Amino acid sequence: LKISTKSGARNKTAPLLHGLFFEEINNSGEGGLYAELIRNRAFQGSDLVDGVAPGATPWAPTLTAWKSIGGALLSLDLLNPLSENLRTVLKVDIPSNATGEVGFLNEGWWGMNVQPQDYDASFYIKPNGALYKRNVTGVNLSLRSAVTDDIWATTRVEISPDISVTKYTKLEAVLTPSVTAPNKNNTFAITFDATEAQGQTFYFDLISLFPPTFKGRKNGLRKDLAEHLLDLKPKFMRFPGGSDVEGNSIETRWQWKKNIGPLTDRPGRPDYWGYWNSEGLGYLEYLQWCEDFEIEPLVTIYSGYSLDLSALYSAHTVEEGDLDFYINEAIEQLEYAMGGVDTKWGALRAEHGHPEPFSIKFVEIGNEDWFSDSYYWRYPRFLEALQAAYPNVTYIASQATETSPANRNVTIPPGGMWDLHHFETPQFFKDNFNFFDNWQDIAGYPDVKIYVGEHSVLGRDRVGGIDWVNGEGRFKFPTTVSAIGEAIFALAMERNPTIVTHCSYAVLFQNLGRPPQWGPNFISFTADPSETVLSASYYRQWMFSNHKGTETLPVENTEGGFDPVWWHASIETGSTTTTEDAASNTTQYAQGNIYVKLVNAAKQPAPVTLNFDTAISKVNGTILRHDDEFGFNYLGNATAISPKTFDLEQSAIQNQGMTITYAVPGLSVVVLELDQK
Ligand code: AHR
Repeated sequence: LKISTKSGARNKTAPLLHGLFFEEINNSGEGGLYAELIRNRAFQGSDLVDGVAPGATPWAPTLTAWKSIGGALLSLDLLNPLSENLRTVLKVDIPSNATGEVGFLNEGWWGMNVQPQDYDASFYIKPNGALYKRNVTGVNLSLRSAVTDDIWATTRVEISPDISVTKYTKLEAVLTPSVTAPNKNNTFAITFDATEAQGQTFYFDLISLFPPTFKGRKNGLRKDLAEHLLDLKPKFMRFPGGSDVEGNSIETRWQWKKNIGPLTDRPGRPDYWGYWNSEGLGYLEYLQWCEDFEIEPLVTIYSGYSLDLSALYSAHTVEEGDLDFYINEAIEQLEYAMGGVDTKWGALRAEHGHPEPFSIKFVEIGNEDWFSDSYYWRYPRFLEALQAAYPNVTYIASQATETSPANRNVTIPPGGMWDLHHFETPQFFKDNFNFFDNWQDIAGYPDVKIYVGEHSVLGRDRVGGIDWVNGEGRFKFPTTVSAIGEAIFALAMERNPTIVTHCSYAVLFQNLGRPPQWGPNFISFTADPSETVLSASYYRQWMFSNHKGTETLPVENTEGGFDPVWWHASIETGSTTTTEDAASNTTQYAQGNIYVKLVNAAKQPAPVTLNFDTAISKVNGTILRHDDEFGFNYLGNATAISPKTFDLEQSAIQNQGMTITYAVPGLSVVVLELDQK
């Protein structure tokens, strides 16, 4: 390979290329990144119904995850709502013959992590009106083992004799265990002393417990999971979906106005993926997450279509005459984020604690609208109105070309973007290495940039492709060939920075405690941070985003085509980009670290020779590889496929540094980092 550092043929790499796509699926947020430890904290329901298609899950308020202690009778009550939006509460009847400790506990999101740190507990309580004897002096809060008698932390919260018996009182306390519990099999309990509480009734709601969060945000993110995302050096985040922005009906779409402000005002909603979403992780929390990560928010807005897998295309499209309502909802959504405090929705954001406007540069209109037959009239109307209100935003279309007789082409204007989704086999990514070369000529959209919003190797190469319905061929976890296929596609993107400006993997998270939903996923986790598994795909993106470079370097193929090896080169020019060639005074050479990315999809090593027009002094490498093409990281073997660093022997650097020889190991993704002399 001949790699040139001459300026003429270099391009700037896409500054925002590698990002994140987050959606509430697999309990990614609920019981995942959203740090709340109490499952079903407001009794809205969170039963998972196996075998029911996403979107069709029936739901009802439940006592899921709650259990009685000491014979307390637990039931759901609708007559004593906490608020307009939290209408179901927990009724706790203490039997008149109760003795000792009596109350209830929460099992958490398939366990609860207990460490020596502060846990913020809070809950709303109301005694039973005039029947209350005003003799209960307090309740005990504790973190305890679910299987042994161990109590990891306990504290008492006083109940005033003057407590209101008609309104709820919010009580708060901090629990500080002095030890780390040996496993995640722990619970959070609220108990009374039976001698005080015998025969009485109390109502509880919004029972919450937070460990320390990422950057200490109240109502914030689980620290360890957020840090894993940050390690990827993402440049943007698309949220909140995915199909989940659409919902499975118009009514259950993601509605930003219902997931902002005090938690007592958030009704939550049935998630598209079949479980209840408290929406504690709401619009403002997403924006603050981006702010804390210092990344660009890429907001998907609801565009008038809800995906119902049982009735594609014509189902759940808003009437043409009603579309303005949804367009206005989207404009107001942007005003909530970007408006000054003198605007209606900007003022509300300030009231919610964030007077400083956010900046949103990217907005996607809908999601996967190739499933609909109406995008051709919805998209232009949204676009025109949004552009008039926020002309500096880049708008992303979720569909452009006709993909079935049911939908029609839409015209993306120059300067716009198009979101493509690719859940594929490794072979697809190999065959489509040139997918984006001459893309604009092929697609016929001049000056339209591409966002590969969701992509992954979904399963193995198989005649007939992956069986989406029966899951035949599909991977549960990213494998060696996943990393290889995705690396090849990422090279295809990196070498076309003027076409592909953003990309993100899907799906990001899965909670291993719950029944499997969507796989493969970037990060698998449980309630116990030590059980997190970063996948081969995660590490692949980590390698690419940490070695992107600022400019691409042209590579002349002197080795006879790609396959089994694919490559791309770039350079980190930093602020001191180039120096003049003293001899000719015409050619500029880039200074800085050179990155050569090499992917070998074959099992055997593949020797390559790299010739440079600049002298190389030293080569370090990072490699991701595994002998088994279907090997994967899993709980108990979490780092089987993880990046290892190495130094290339000096003997591999020949011809006064102008030539490097290297045998790319079989089934590997490699980044060589070369220092110029
Ligand atoms: O990424 C999971 C799902 O796949 C998303 O919700 C949807 O956009 C896509 O079909």
